[in-house]
Formats: sequence, structure tokens, C-alpha cells
Amino acid sequence: MTIPDSNFRRDVIRGLSARQKYLEPKYFYDATGDRLFQQIMQSPEYYLTNAELEILQRQSNAILGSCLQFHRQFDIVELGAGDASKSLYLLEQALQRGISYHYYPIDISGNVIGYLETSLPGKLPGMTTRGFTGEYFHMLEELNRYSKGPKLVLFLGATIGNMQPEEAFHFCRELHTYLNEGDLLLIGFDLKKDPATILAAYNDAAGITRDFNLNLLARINRELEGNFDLKKFRHYPVYDPGTGACKSYLISTEAQVVTLGDTRISFEKDEAIYMEVSQKYDMGQIEQMARKSGFTPIQHFYDRERNFLDTLWTVPSLKSVLGSR
Ligand SMILES: C[S@@+](CC[C@H](N)C(=O)[O-])C[C@H]1O[C@@H](n2cnc3c(N)ncnc32)[C@H](O)[C@@H]1O
Repeated sequence: MTIPDSNFRRDVIRGLSARQKYLEPKYFYDATGDRLFQQIMQSPEYYLTNAELEILQRQSNAILGSCLQFHRQFDIVELGAGDASKSLYLLEQALQRGISYHYYPIDISGNVIGYLETSLPGKLPGMTTRGFTGEYFHMLEELNRYSKGPKLVLFLGATIGNMQPEEAFHFCRELHTYLNEGDLLLIGFDLKKDPATILAAYNDAAGITRDFNLNLLARINRELEGNFDLKKFRHYPVYDPGTGACKSYLISTEAQVVTLGDTRISFEKDEAIYMEVSQKYDMGQIEQMARKSGFTPIQHFYDRERNFLDTLWTVPSLKSVLGSR
């Protein structure tokens, strides 16, 4: 993890001192958080993984076919790569077809980057994997020194859903500034569906999502001299079908004071810490986000049940942007 501890401390204290207490989801992913996230992905309620896995298993060839309309060869960059278990299907196809020989995963978790750099060369002989540990845009800037040619950027797993829609729009707009004309972006969105299905995905019967959330308090205890008593916080997810926001909270079950080194944080009984949003989208919102942030949507790839969408966008040429005005 390349985030200096001082940033972690600063962000945690800022979040827990706010009127509505919050913690930043990027801090979920220490070694235990990575392992718990992999268990979430395998839980029966978390339909997102199977849906996107199906897209990549069945449609990687079609996705690459669409990309080939733009470039004969390109580097593949993955933002928030995790264990790359889904993108592996696309990487294998890209290698077999001689379309790509360089894979650049970016992740804030040094554990997953270490794992990818060690495990992928055996699975993808002939493809170089060079990982970047750190925040998305800092690492893209560094990566742009190595990767000069055209790029396909993957941003999978509905990680964009961990931002509020306005924040997601700003993220896409900023991402656009790191890319060149003709570069491609494959981005995964979870779609609006039966609210009960969505809520269950964030409230699995085995309690893995609960443990994933509580692990951030445990991490604060470990790394920031905190003394959270995990038994005094309850996992509480809610889904609002009106806004498409599925939010996770930890609720303090009693009035209590927690210390982080010298800093004291008071909780009232039933006070909530806002942990994470998992935003659900409809097609209109997705197309609008693409265009407003400067991309042109090329093709949509759904799973068979239309639970999930991986959508391919490109950075249009200035000429085509001016021509369409
Ligand atoms: C929801 S997981 C998705 C993992 C993988 N893409 C998948 O589909 O299974 C999000 C990943 O993004 C990484 N991540 C979260 N915030 C990040 C940030 N600000 N910069 C870089 N990586 C980040 C996490 O470490 C984690 O591996």
C-alpha cells in the first residue's frame, strides 16, 4: 500500500469528525480486506461477479473485435484490477490473437499487485505484467511514461458504482484527460433491478459483507492505534430504488467514545458511519455519463439476464466532436 499512513490517519479523522460520519471505501483493501472481497465475490447473493464473468467468458472475442475497429494492437490497463479473475479471459484472448502484449494493472492494494505480478506470467506467457500500486490517477500518470501507444482501459466490477453519480461523472471526465484520441475504455455498471436482489447482495447470509465493513474498523485499530470494539457496531445496508443507491452503514449500538491515538471520537447510540455506496444505473444514465464526460459509447455487452453491463467507450477525435456540434 503506497498511501502514507499520515493520509490514512488524516482521512479517517476527517471522516469520523464530520456531521455525518463516514470512512473512505478505498481503505477497505488491506490484506484482510482483499481476502474478504474475494469471498464476497464468491458468495451466492453477490450476482455481480457471475454476471460480469459470463460477459467476459462469452464475449471477450466480440469486445476485442469492437476494439480492433480502432487499433490493431494496444496495451491493456486495468484500474482497480483486484485479482483480475474476470479480466483474465479478455487478456488470454488478446494475447492469443496477437492484439496485446502488455498488461498494466493499477490497484491501491500492494497485495493484489504483488499477486498479479507473480501469478500472471505463468498464466499468460508472452504477455508482460507490470503493476502499479497506488491511486488511479497518480498511477496512470506514472504509467503513461511506459505505455505510449493506444490503450484499452478496463474498469470492471462496478467499481465506478462506489462513487456517487456526480463523483463518477467527474471521475470519467478526469480519466478522459489521461487518455488519447482513439483510446478505449471498458467500464462495468451494475444495472437497476429487483430491489430485493440488490439488497441481498450487500447483506449475504454468511455475513461476509458485514465482516468486510467491520474490517475497516479493525484496520484502524491495527494501523492507527484505534480501540474500536467491533461488537458495538452493526452492519446496516439500505437500497433506494428511486435513486439506485445501495448504501452500507455501520451503526453504533450504544453511546461510546473511541480513541485513535490522542484523538477521541464520540458516538451516540444508533449513530451511523457511512461506509460505501454501490450505485445502480439505467441505460439512459450510462449513455449520458459517457457523452457528458467526453467519451463516445461504441457497444454494450450484457450478461444473459441483463443484470450487468460492460460498456465500451472511446475518446473521439476532436474533428468528430466538432462535427457533431
Ligand atoms: C470492487 S473491487 C473490484 C476488483 C476487480 N476489478 C473486480 O472486478 O473483481 C475494487 C478494487 O479497486 C481497488 N481500489 C479501490 N479504490 C482505489 C483507488 N482509489 N485507487 C486504486 N485502486 C483502488 C481495490 O483495492 C480493489 O481491488
